[in-house]
Amino acid sequence: MLQRPDEILNEASQTVGDPLERDALGGEAELTGDRAIPRRLVVVSNRLGNIRDLSQAGGLAVGIGDALAERGGLWLGASAEYQDYAASDEPLIRLERVGKIETAALTLPYEEYSLYYNGYANSTLWPLFHYRLDLVNHRAEFLHAYRQINARFAKALAGLLSGNDDLVWVHDYHLIPLAAQLRRLGVRNRIGFFLHIPFPPPDLFVATPDHEELIDDLLQYDVVGFQTETDVGNFRRSVQAANSITFDINGSAEMNGRTLLSRCFPIGIDVDSIARMANEAAEDVQIDSMRRQILGLKQIIGVDRLDYSKGLPGRMQAFARLLERHPEHERAATYLQIASPTREEVSAYADIRAQLEATAGAVNGRYADLAWTPIRYIHRAVSRSRLAGLLRASQVGLVTPLRDGMNLVAKEYIAAQDEADPGVLVLSRFAGAAEELAESLIVNPYAVDEVADAIAKALAMPLEERIARHSALLKRITRNDAAEWRRSFLATLAGEN
Ligand code: ADP
Ligand code: G6P
Repeated sequence: MLQRPDEILNEASQTVGDPLERDALGGEAELTGDRAIPRRLVVVSNRLGNIRDLSQAGGLAVGIGDALAERGGLWLGASAEYQDYAASDEPLIRLERVGKIETAALTLPYEEYSLYYNGYANSTLWPLFHYRLDLVNHRAEFLHAYRQINARFAKALAGLLSGNDDLVWVHDYHLIPLAAQLRRLGVRNRIGFFLHIPFPPPDLFVATPDHEELIDDLLQYDVVGFQTETDVGNFRRSVQAANSITFDINGSAEMNGRTLLSRCFPIGIDVDSIARMANEAAEDVQIDSMRRQILGLKQIIGVDRLDYSKGLPGRMQAFARLLERHPEHERAATYLQIASPTREEVSAYADIRAQLEATAGAVNGRYADLAWTPIRYIHRAVSRSRLAGLLRASQVGLVTPLRDGMNLVAKEYIAAQDEADPGVLVLSRFAGAAEELAESLIVNPYAVDEVADAIAKALAMPLEERIARHSALLKRITRNDAAEWRRSFLATLAGEN
């Protein structure tokens, strides 16, 4: 059912506008004097998760979905369907409610969406923010479409807000200008922004001609959150360089009578749900694992979107170097790489796929024999429960991005392990997760031999050391889990921290 804005507003006011209804939706109460004011959570992200089956979604969608499932609220994102906007500039929204969560899917014009998503978001901002200036593509029409789509999101959202009390939480690099566009429409609500990807150092950031506009956009939020201290530091230095605004020791900056708070909120995972799924692994995963046990084979696993930021060809080369430098692992270890298709309309992604397939073919061509395939490469998404079982059945988790905001797979690998006989995580120092996960084997992914030696160390690590490292890591990811991430961000946004 596609709705015009007048219908949407009618439905929205019936379903989420009424204060009693909002209480029933579980909106958290903030105490002001003696009166409890319900504050509805309104989340905005480019990709809208499937609220009918949150267990199947990836990192961002799970984090957001759980926040909404816990306290109720509205989630606005781009629809999977496109609309020809020639006739109208008014937002078209499909509303759906499941339990306490309502989703609003915004239908957007295909060409403009593609210039925004494949163009500015994933050919300009993604490489820039992952320190890959060599891959940045700047085109005036990308930026134009980016601003147009953000304006469409703002218009749609302004019509869905039920008052100044709604807490608005905007996610990721697709929507940086959203607060500025909302302010222009007169929205005065508290608006927070969380960047799931890294923020580059000022010297790289200024390489984009749009850097001043992007900073001005970010200054329109009340709270700007990052994954790591490194990212917060990079952001603050860029703000200082562009606007001479300084931050106090708490990360606050005053400007034009407003306060902007910038902080790091490292994203976590739902540890119990991964552990539960890992425990109930599918039968074929268990059989495969038993077969390897009988043959005395160990499994090294990598799980990623097929993105150039993940360092996949280098990882395969490191595995080949393991076989050269530590030949005892020939026929004794296999490397399973699950790499799901992603952003295939962007040329840099087609290039990385070709490069990875060539590398896997070359390594297998050189080492494989009838009884042993060194690299098993699967180019598709796997269900979360299956993934958890595969992580548990692997003696080494290999997570070696060249740059990553956090990397949830690193945390999922830890959560999936058998506490009595855990595997070892080999982790890139350039993943945001490395700030928290010091007991893993931290490596430089550009130093292929160093990664190869770390894999050898992981494969040979005695049980006692594996347990000691794993229990420290498990404690930390349990303390800083997904619930803590959203609690601390939302408390800060609501002004309670
Ligand atoms: P990114 O956000 O860059 O994709 P993360 O590691 O932070 O990287 O999050 C990826 C999420 O998607 C994780 O929850 C991971 O389990 C999931 N995921 C990654 N690759 C696959 C795949 N091939 N099949 C299913 N889920 C995947
Ligand atoms: C990263 C980004 C998310 C994005 C996800 C999947 O995690 O931070 O914003 O949703 O990758 O990418 P996609 O382009 O498929 O949404």
